[in-house]
Amino acid sequence: MAAMYSTRQLLAVCVVALSFYLSHGRVNPSFKIKAVNLGGWLVTEGWIKPSLFDGITNKDFLDGTGLQFKSVTVGKYLCAEAGGGNIIVANRTSASGWETFSLWRINETNFNFRVFNKQFAGLDTNGNGIDVVAVSSTPGRSETFEIVRNSNDASRVRIKASNGFFLQAKTEELVTADYAGDSKWGDDDPSVFVMTIAGGLQGEFQVTNGYGPKLAPKVMRDHWRTFIVEDDFKFISQNGINAVRIPVGWWIASDPTPPQPYVGGSLKALDNAFLWAQNYGLQVVIDLHAAPGSQNGWEHSSSRDGSQEWGQTDENIRQTVDVIDFLTARYAKSPSLYAVELMNEPRAPGASLDSMTKYYKAGYDAVRKHSSTAYVVMSNRLSSDDPRELFPLASGLTGSVIDVHYYNLFSDEFNSMSVQQNIDFINTNRSAQLNYVTTSNGPLTFVGEWVAEWTVQGATKEDYQRFAEAQLEVFGRATFGWAYWTLKNVNNHWSLEWMIKNGYIKI
Ligand SMILES: *[C@@H]1O[C@H](CO)[C@@H](O)[C@H](O)[C@H]1NC(C)=O
Ligand SMILES: *[C@@H]1O[C@H](CO)[C@@H](O)[C@H](O)[C@H]1NC(C)=O
Ligand SMILES: *[C@@H]1O[C@H](CO)[C@@H](O)[C@H](O)[C@H]1NC(C)=O
Repeated sequence: MAAMYSTRQLLAVCVVALSFYLSHGRVNPSFKIKAVNLGGWLVTEGWIKPSLFDGITNKDFLDGTGLQFKSVTVGKYLCAEAGGGNIIVANRTSASGWETFSLWRINETNFNFRVFNKQFAGLDTNGNGIDVVAVSSTPGRSETFEIVRNSNDASRVRIKASNGFFLQAKTEELVTADYAGDSKWGDDDPSVFVMTIAGGLQGEFQVTNGYGPKLAPKVMRDHWRTFIVEDDFKFISQNGINAVRIPVGWWIASDPTPPQPYVGGSLKALDNAFLWAQNYGLQVVIDLHAAPGSQNGWEHSSSRDGSQEWGQTDENIRQTVDVIDFLTARYAKSPSLYAVELMNEPRAPGASLDSMTKYYKAGYDAVRKHSSTAYVVMSNRLSSDDPRELFPLASGLTGSVIDVHYYNLFSDEFNSMSVQQNIDFINTNRSAQLNYVTTSNGPLTFVGEWVAEWTVQGATKEDYQRFAEAQLEVFGRATFGWAYWTLKNVNNHWSLEWMIKNGYIKI
């Protein structure tokens, strides 16, 4: 064939084809992705598959679990006075932020307690060595405690300090680690506390650190091998889906030996996904869902304890760019690499517009270093009130895409909406929001997450069908496409597989 054409003609054809390829997406693309997210696969989210946590000993004591302790003798809660940087007292009648101790798990029985202002509770090593304070910003031996539970009543605990003695509330203002010996667990024992669990996280950090280095590798590899398999790619390709958005965590770039507690092997799973995508003609959007330090403080970005620390240093931003560089280099040759999403759901104000701009620019360049055709997706910041804030940056970058997530959830305004009001909200309000970010000379638009779920109780199958239909219609106007959250989930409506198999959604 090629012999029939001169090199020059061939080159001309290529240039035309390339410029069509690069530009056709910018205005009214003929191809749009109708994708599904592979959530809960390479980045753990406990609510998607709770059984993944079943084998963890003391699985209610994971990293980031908030504990509150009420002294049985004083009748009041332990509290980091002033939120931290001070002594621990036992004089609070109700518990919230200052009275909540966030766990860092060392193993199934030993923990550090992080307080509101991020110091760790520990022994006053500069003083008498037995007063309990919250002054250290890094946890060491004096900041390590064993939680001993009453075998007859798991909510009654004693807390053993590193000096071998138990904590006791001597008075409302004096908490010390100097109670020796056993307990009858009675209400007259100052070393006994009634414990309340106040929230927690079930992300990748929690599951891997929860199992620990001996058990986690096998548990995670079994999960990666079985949760998503090649047949899933076949199923979705046969049901109107043409792409997958795959959340990954930053540690994938140091596979097979990621930093503790993460476990190697997720890169192999991602390699498989690219092979399967190719086998079934599906496109792939790689989505950096968990950035180092956590870009939003939630479990799905692998926050250890709810902290959000991404973007605070240039080194941290550079490390994140390196992850993008690594992933793009690895898959640039695959015909299935369609887009690289630089980061999922950074949250304002912690993730500042300044650090986002710096990172997105450098991340874009890292993708372009290896691929001139992959789209580069930039997720809008949550909690920002300007959905066009990335336009000054993105408009100048060929093949850039803005990702917006639209859920009729997670905000009080939806709590009292009826079925019809939810549908009207899609047709009117979401439609207007999407329209506002979809411009002829700006970035493409992507509804990278949505779901046919709401707060309506007792809705019928037909209600769900209408709700899904409305979203497919409106989000179908996004110029890059959309992606359902997610393929598999124990909560049926959050599982596109279940929704398709049971006739709730037809694409
Ligand atoms: C608790 O004790 C501390 C330390 O003495 C004191 O500063 C604080 O005001 C007390 N708080 C309450 C609510 O009694
Ligand atoms: C847990 O960690 C503590 C503190 O490092 C250690 O003394 C203890 O032996 C460990 N326990 C288990 C069950 O690994
Ligand atoms: C949706 O848009 C309509 C029309 O602009 C507006 O009146 C209504 O307040 C919006 N609803 C919500 C919940 O924001």
